[in-house]
Amino acid sequence: MQHILEELECRRAQARLGGGEKRIASQHAKGKLTARERIEVLLDEGSFEETDMFVEHRCTDFGMENQKIPGDGVVTGHGTINGRLVYVFSKDFTVFGGSLSGAHASKIIKIQKMALQNGAPIIGVFDAGGARIQEGVESLAGYADIFLQNTLASGVIPQISVIMGPCAGGDVYSPAMTDFIFMVRDTSYMYVTGPEVVKTVTNEVVTHEDLGGARVHAQKSGVADGAFDNDLEALAQIRRLIDFLPLSNRDRPAPRKTFDDAMRDEASLDSLVPANPNKPYDMKELILKVVDEADFFEISPDYAKNIITGFGRLDGQTVGVVANQPQVLAGVLDIDSSRKAARFVRFCDAFEIPLVTFVDVPGFMPGTKQEYGGLIKHGAKLLFAYAEATVPKLTVITRKAYGGAYDVMSSKHLRGDVNYAWPTAEIAVMGAKGAVEIIFRAEAKDPEALAAREAEYKARFANPFVAASRGYIDDVIMPHGTRRRLIKALKTLKNKQLSNPWKKHDNIPL
Ligand code: HXC
Repeated sequence: MQHILEELECRRAQARLGGGEKRIASQHAKGKLTARERIEVLLDEGSFEETDMFVEHRCTDFGMENQKIPGDGVVTGHGTINGRLVYVFSKDFTVFGGSLSGAHASKIIKIQKMALQNGAPIIGVFDAGGARIQEGVESLAGYADIFLQNTLASGVIPQISVIMGPCAGGDVYSPAMTDFIFMVRDTSYMYVTGPEVVKTVTNEVVTHEDLGGARVHAQKSGVADGAFDNDLEALAQIRRLIDFLPLSNRDRPAPRKTFDDAMRDEASLDSLVPANPNKPYDMKELILKVVDEADFFEISPDYAKNIITGFGRLDGQTVGVVANQPQVLAGVLDIDSSRKAARFVRFCDAFEIPLVTFVDVPGFMPGTKQEYGGLIKHGAKLLFAYAEATVPKLTVITRKAYGGAYDVMSSKHLRGDVNYAWPTAEIAVMGAKGAVEIIFRAEAKDPEALAAREAEYKARFANPFVAASRGYIDDVIMPHGTRRRLIKALKTLKNKQLSNPWKKHDNIPL
């Protein structure tokens, strides 16, 4: 009996060693943790239960029958994050470069199915060289099977991808179909085809970093929702993010006990908006002062900074915050900011996370670059996302809410539940100057007359009261009471019931 138990321990130890000590040392030398170390950091201590530790590949080509490593390049299982169940798979670069074989794919699919069935988030950690080259089509089939599971799970359980090394070829599309992608600076990169192929096909010479590093995807392409300095920081932040989220669309995010007073006033907010409407201010200050304990998990902080998206809590309840940022491009809606916010709004709606929208938007970005890029369709994404969302929707207009952008930003007309405005709000078709230049064009040569018209337009429309008189704004509130008012409003919406007409699915402008 004893020797059988010892054999188990021996087999386990061998599996835990992955591709061997030399490759583990090389992984560490690159500043990366191993697949198992990452899981240890990510999950609560001692909570990890591993599945399929002894799975081996089935390939018999190219001498592969003599190279079998238990686990086959991916560590899978489940555990907890602050006591809540999550499923995880972590690619082991020390085993055939983490490449995907048929057996490796089956392990991931098993975990995906369990996560979906049991209603718990799935976190994938990527550090791999794509399809197992020795396996050919079995590997491609494995990828497709994973993609299918990603699609079926979308909107049912949160799916999070963390890129901690190479992520190329077939490996990129599973993360792309998940809810959030995070990367590690300097050690991770993501691309469909690598620098060598790029050079052959397009003659372009580019490094891994410049083609698909964390900076590229977190700032330029928007593929990644955040970038962190190292593995440890990234994993700690994923733990933090999971705390904000529900386990599935059948669950509500666990309310968190807060020591922040729900009735707290913030006197400094009364002077946040500058007297000059063209002067910027930092919308993040408002968010941090309103949410519990200034705890805000920002999504895509370095991409399309003219809009802010992220998770916070109001009296312990998770909310998704969307806010125009007047500090960047005056908070205008353009292609990138519309796409960024639309995706975030849809995530929140899918997972019953109430939306809080802070509005200071001068409109949509004019210009050929935007129009040629399809601003109409991309702007419509955000409009569509807000319109279809049935979660509680709270809106606060702090300053400008001009034109179509007023409609888009969770307005009453798109079924905003509680819409507030600060006294500094200006709800109009456009700014006073632009407006009078159009409607009083005949007086264009008389600057004095034009100035008088501008003052008249401002007095008439550059305020929240016209909208309030129509009931489009439920109340004009004092800035200092914003937290208190939002928390009260959110409580009234606890049992909100609203559904859209039956359909197979909608046809959001893509
Ligand atoms: C099998 C692989 C592998 C792969 C790496 N390895 N990629 N084995 N299949 N795809 C093995 C290497 O042979 C090596 O084994 C070990 O992993 C480490 O690889 P290195 O090249 O030494 O590491 P490094 O220099 O860090 O380079 C990492 C890398 C490179 C950039 C990822 O390995 C690479 O370019 N790999 C191939 C990438 C690729 O073309 N994949 C196929 C994409 S096509 P030893 O034994 O020496 O440790 C694809 C199509 C799917 O994915 C489409 C589905 C939709």
